[in-house]
Amino acid sequence: MKKFIHDFEVTHNHHITDDYFAIYLKCPVSLPQILPGQFAEVLVSNSTTTYLRRPFSIYDVDYEKNVLSLLIKKVGDGTVALSKLKEGDALNLIYPLGNSFSMPGGKKALLIGGGVGIAPMLLLAKLLQEKGFKPDILIGGRTSNDIIEPEKYKPFGEVFITTDDGSSGEKGMVTQHSLFSGKVKEYSAIYACGPDPMMKAVARVAAEHTIPCEISLENTMACGIGACLCCVVETIDGNKTTCIEGPVFDTRKLKL
Ligand SMILES: Cc1cc2nc3c(=O)[nH]c(=O)nc-3n(C[C@H](O)[C@H](O)[C@H](O)COP(=O)(O)OP(=O)(O)OC[C@H]3O[C@@H](n4cnc5c(N)ncnc54)[C@H](O)[C@@H]3O)c2cc1C
Ligand code: FES
Repeated sequence: MKKFIHDFEVTHNHHITDDYFAIYLKCPVSLPQILPGQFAEVLVSNSTTTYLRRPFSIYDVDYEKNVLSLLIKKVGDGTVALSKLKEGDALNLIYPLGNSFSMPGGKKALLIGGGVGIAPMLLLAKLLQEKGFKPDILIGGRTSNDIIEPEKYKPFGEVFITTDDGSSGEKGMVTQHSLFSGKVKEYSAIYACGPDPMMKAVARVAAEHTIPCEISLENTMACGIGACLCCVVETIDGNKTTCIEGPVFDTRKLKL
């Protein structure tokens, strides 16, 4: 897929909580098609300590307004600098990068996002609904503060929530949700993005029930275009770059 590099204009920087924000960016030309799971490499020019671009999943796309958004958790200098951008500021993106989620074999799919890992699930839920699928969307977090904009997903499927401390939804990890003791066998595909332990647990449960499962990996990246090999992941077919051959991988292929 062709990649682009553009200076976007910040139209809105929405501070959702102290830790999370969604930044809305207007493209100077018509946006190309962006597939669920794809990401952008962002140049953080307002930070003097962030030398390399930072990768973020594309959260949402509005082709009519020519605006895309990123959902970001503040974890270090780069993300804190991005949180300070204001309406009218410019932000340079290389996009759309990486592969995307594939469509399920049957009608029912389960989408799982842990914390900010929920970001790529919005475009996926939209696309699945457009194609006539009925996704269930399971959002997990440590506390209710990590359940970000769950209402955005409601038009596209049924939303379920878990938190480690039980402050929102069911108490426990996503794989302990009652969906996994009940209707899990109905799913023809599971898609997930989140912290490594969660990805491993989801892959294990999917394998137990022989359900195809794709996860989006958030490995540390530098170039984002296959040149530096810092994002390599081990698969049964040899080493693969997360930025070019991922970030989405079939869990049956990964050496987790
Ligand atoms: C394909 C892809 C998609 C991503 N999508 C999103 C997204 O939609 N929203 C979002 O908030 N983040 C996303 N990330 C993670 C994001 O890129 C990092 O959080 C960001 O680069 C951190 O930059 P920083 O300068 O603020 O932090 P740094 O100063 O670089 O690091 C601060 C701390 O965060 C840790 N960290 C850095 N990168 C990662 C990472 N990739 N995963 C886990 N911990 C990390 C570091 O180990 C360190 O402890 C994605 C990563 C990848 C590879
Ligand atoms: S980030 Fe450089 S090869 Fe993937």
